[in-house]
Amino acid sequence: RVQQVQPVEQKTYLIKECLSHKFTLNSCKKVFCQPWQRCVDGDCICKIPYQCPKNSTLTICATNKRPFRNYCQLKSYECQHSDVRFMNKGNCNSEENFHISLEPENSTESFVQVKLVNHTKELYLCNSGWSAHEANVVCRHLGFSDFLCNGNISCLFCLHCHRGAERHVNTSEAPEPTSDSPDCLQATCRGTETSLAECTLIKRSQVNGDKGFARVVCYTTPREFRCVNGKCIPLNETCNGINDCGDLSDELCCKECRDGSFHCKSDVCIPREHLYDFLQSQFPWQVAIRDNEKVICGGIYIGGCWILTAAHCVRSSRVNHYLIWTGLLDTIKYGSRVETFRLKQLIIHENYNASSYWNDIALLEMRNSGAHKTCLVDNSFPACVPWSEYMFRPGQECKVSGWGLGDDFAKQYELKWGYINLLPNCSDLYKGRFLSGMECAGTHDGSIDACKGDSGGPLVCLDSDNVAYVWGVVSWGDSCGVPESPGVYTKVATYFDWISRHVGRSLISRYNV
Ligand SMILES: *[C@@H]1O[C@H](CO)[C@@H](O)[C@H](O)[C@H]1NC(C)=O
Ligand SMILES: *[C@@H]1O[C@H](CO)[C@@H](O)[C@H](O)[C@H]1NC(C)=O
Ligand SMILES: *[C@@H]1O[C@H](CO)[C@@H](O)[C@H](O)[C@H]1NC(C)=O
Ligand SMILES: *[C@@H]1O[C@H](CO)[C@@H](O)[C@H](O)[C@H]1NC(C)=O
Ligand SMILES: *[C@@H]1O[C@H](CO)[C@@H](O)[C@H](O)[C@H]1NC(C)=O
Ligand SMILES: *[C@@H]1O[C@H](CO)[C@@H](O)[C@H](O)[C@H]1NC(C)=O
Ligand SMILES: *[C@@H]1O[C@H](CO)[C@@H](O)[C@H](O)[C@H]1NC(C)=O
Repeated sequence: RVQQVQPVEQKTYLIKECLSHKFTLNSCKKVFCQPWQRCVDGDCICKIPYQCPKNSTLTICATNKRPFRNYCQLKSYECQHSDVRFMNKGNCNSEENFHISLEPENSTESFVQVKLVNHTKELYLCNSGWSAHEANVVCRHLGFSDFLCNGNISCLFCLHCHRGAERHVNTSEAPEPTSDSPDCLQATCRGTETSLAECTLIKRSQVNGDKGFARVVCYTTPREFRCVNGKCIPLNETCNGINDCGDLSDELCCKECRDGSFHCKSDVCIPREHLYDFLQSQFPWQVAIRDNEKVICGGIYIGGCWILTAAHCVRSSRVNHYLIWTGLLDTIKYGSRVETFRLKQLIIHENYNASSYWNDIALLEMRNSGAHKTCLVDNSFPACVPWSEYMFRPGQECKVSGWGLGDDFAKQYELKWGYINLLPNCSDLYKGRFLSGMECAGTHDGSIDACKGDSGGPLVCLDSDNVAYVWGVVSWGDSCGVPESPGVYTKVATYFDWISRHVGRSLISRYNV
């Protein structure tokens, strides 16, 4: 009797309906847009260079030998001129170019040779730290890439489409002829760069420790999973937290994640190391701002050492007087074990208008105290910063909290909270005073409302998977608890770029799982 061998069916973790949306790293329903992009109708589209920050201490030199004021300016220019890439940080004084090549050129597995600006000698990339991310960037740099236009939309709104590396190879073999230098360059990339020059490149000696040089194969052959950009990869490389496609489309529609990667509520797989150990309590992001003895406003912990609050709550001149109370659960009990922090700096929105409350938003950076490397304290947990104005719509129920005045306008020291609904554009109720970057919220009868003293505190909305987003910062309103004058909030999503510019992108991304 012949034993029949059943073909092992490949397990698919993918969600079919989700795949039909063809999400990529330019889909802001799924992921953040890059700092040089804006989220418009669910797509990340390139900013025009003038929409980027103007000032920077850094300059950047592009491959056309033109200097740019900052990375955003260069990348938004690149969106329109795909032949222009990043070359080096600093000025454009050098005669030479950044250059990479494969060695041998037509081999199935080639070493990667790199010539840095102002260096005469070429170096090979190191084996150490070599992964699919770096390999994808090398192949993209070498022209295994293209820009596909999305239907008939003009090329300014093109979505990037890359063909990345087929696979990356680890080897301890030396390139032929044996490199006379024992040094190599260790590359560290995010995987979305268009030039290897954008990655961190560090010269390493091969004498000690990890030896060997990286190898790569840059071509595509049909595989079971077709990425949105046309690249095909093995099914077992989808839903593993690694951007194998190059456009991330293999990680955005996953009902489960393999190889220990983390399954986000949005069905996105991310590497474990990006995951923060969730600590849940009722209002773990709520903080109080004190000016000497008095609680003056609320604030919202958004991770690291950063607090979000309303600009009208704080004054630059009093930065040394403010104290942040974190780790408060329900009640402010004087003398109870709360953590207090002094401030390192205070950033008020540069276009804040104190008479119209336009751009009523500020960031406070706490000073980490003594032994604490970070400002994370036991009972605090950050709220996520929303990256798109489309995440929550009018009618959505959200939670507002604060230590504001209660019904009898008596001083209230117990944290109060309530459910309210996001309201459509309030420009009729507040004629001429409801401006861009503002959001209205309340109940039909006005019974639950933010009031004086709640200022700077959070309006938090939960998505369908109970991930908490700080949607609004308590800003102003005509009177408290009156149906026709609902509370007005600073709409945080509008300020995503501003916040990420100041606190650093990695910080707010880290918690937005
Ligand atoms: C840019 O920097 C210059 C000189 O440092 C300064 O005068 C100018 O106000 C700055 N502009 C902005 C928009 O920050
Ligand atoms: C290259 O050398 C020139 C001239 O010494 C210098 O001005 C420039 O900053 C250097 N560029 C880099 C990227 O090191
Ligand atoms: C590599 O292959 C391409 C196409 O097959 C060919 O045109 C080119 O001349 C080859 N280069 C070398 C160095 O053999
Ligand atoms: C590549 O080499 C590193 C050490 O340099 C090792 O940790 C890793 O497992 C290797 N990967 C593969 C696919 O062999
Ligand atoms: C995927 O499966 C193929 C065989 O079907 C195997 O050779 C390969 O190593 C697997 N890749 C990963 C990353 O598990
Ligand atoms: C601030 O807002 C007030 C009231 O809307 C307006 O009159 C004033 O011009 C604004 N100030 C600035 C600097 O924009
Ligand atoms: C609100 O709606 C009015 C009229 O439709 C519009 O002119 C205004 O720009 C809107 N305001 C905001 C902040 O969306």
